[in-house]
Amino acid sequence: MKKTRLCELLGIQYPIVQAPMAGGPTTVDLVVAASDAGALGSFGAAYMSPQQIREACAATRARTDRPFSVNLFAPVPQPPAYDATRTLARLRIYHEELGIAAPFAPVPSDQATQFNAQVDAILECRVPIFSFTFAIPPASTLSRFKAIGAIVIGTATTVDEAVALQDSGVDAICAQGSEAGGHRGTFAVPFERAMIGTMALIPQVVDAVKVPVIASGGIMDGRGIAAALALGAEGVQLGTAFLATTQSGAPSAHKDALSAAKEDATSVTRAFSGRHARGIRNRVIDEFESDPESIAPYPLQNALTRAMRNAAAASGRAEYLSLWAGQALRLARRIDAGELVRQLVRETDQCISALDALR
Ligand SMILES: Cc1cc2nc3c(=O)[nH]c(=O)nc-3n(C[C@H](O)[C@H](O)[C@H](O)COP(=O)(O)O)c2cc1C
Repeated sequence: MKKTRLCELLGIQYPIVQAPMAGGPTTVDLVVAASDAGALGSFGAAYMSPQQIREACAATRARTDRPFSVNLFAPVPQPPAYDATRTLARLRIYHEELGIAAPFAPVPSDQATQFNAQVDAILECRVPIFSFTFAIPPASTLSRFKAIGAIVIGTATTVDEAVALQDSGVDAICAQGSEAGGHRGTFAVPFERAMIGTMALIPQVVDAVKVPVIASGGIMDGRGIAAALALGAEGVQLGTAFLATTQSGAPSAHKDALSAAKEDATSVTRAFSGRHARGIRNRVIDEFESDPESIAPYPLQNALTRAMRNAAAASGRAEYLSLWAGQALRLARRIDAGELVRQLVRETDQCISALDALR
């Protein structure tokens, strides 16, 4: 597999990004394994404190000299005041079943203050690559990364979002198709308008921007990587594929659910965080969606459901977990992450050769 422009930009061997996955999957072990195998290991640091970011970066540096990236959720407009009585009533049932203390409404946290403190930690660690999703951070933040020579990657779900990101000065764009697991990165239109499949999104984004495009959403093997490259992408970002690997910190109940689920098992829901994200349907999604007004806006719903999710992870109860996964989940392999990168590279080469033979 030859290097693309993205490989040169990021200083990596293969144009494969292990997706940043906030909430525990992206352990130091996973990031080191992905980067050591020639891909780009990435921390989903949105829920990490500045100190946790510093520790993760130091631990990674101690084990590899390869590049890695850190990703954050850019702050979004603070939602209007919300009465969480109905949310708490539903959560009380789950907390009782899980045997944990009753839920309470958290003190609202200021997203911008939290984000700025995380940014300070990332800059302090001189992380070579910074990526973000949910919005475009302020120009003053992006220029701080530029000032230390870091590469910046933003997430788009439509062509207009990709153009806006390019105008903001990013070095590469992750184009996220509707198949993708986890949160939608949509920021310029209501989420339903931006449910564009990877196959349709990538060539339209590639035609509209000059910076390298990283395809994400439903890519799990060499066939998907070859297809993304054929559409003009210069890299791919895989979440669900790395979620299933040995080094991923996803709870085993999450990995088991991935192994058991079929392609029609996921849907996009606000039930866990208040923001649209794709995951395997379970009881909590069904019950919250039966009363949509009981779902608080992001980021409040995320804070409200945290204790339930943590308890469920500890006790292996998948019905209370946010089982984020993309639509191609049947192709997940529960293997070592470094071995996954090696298999992906081999399969992509084979696929490209097979296509060449069709000429
Ligand atoms: C468990 C999980 C957590 C995710 N968390 C983040 C995140 O913190 N930041 C981000 O930019 N993308 C996040 N994503 C989305 C991925 O970057 C990527 O768009 C998606 O995984 C691609 O689709 P796939 O899962 O089909 O490979 C997450 C995806 C998953 C599955």
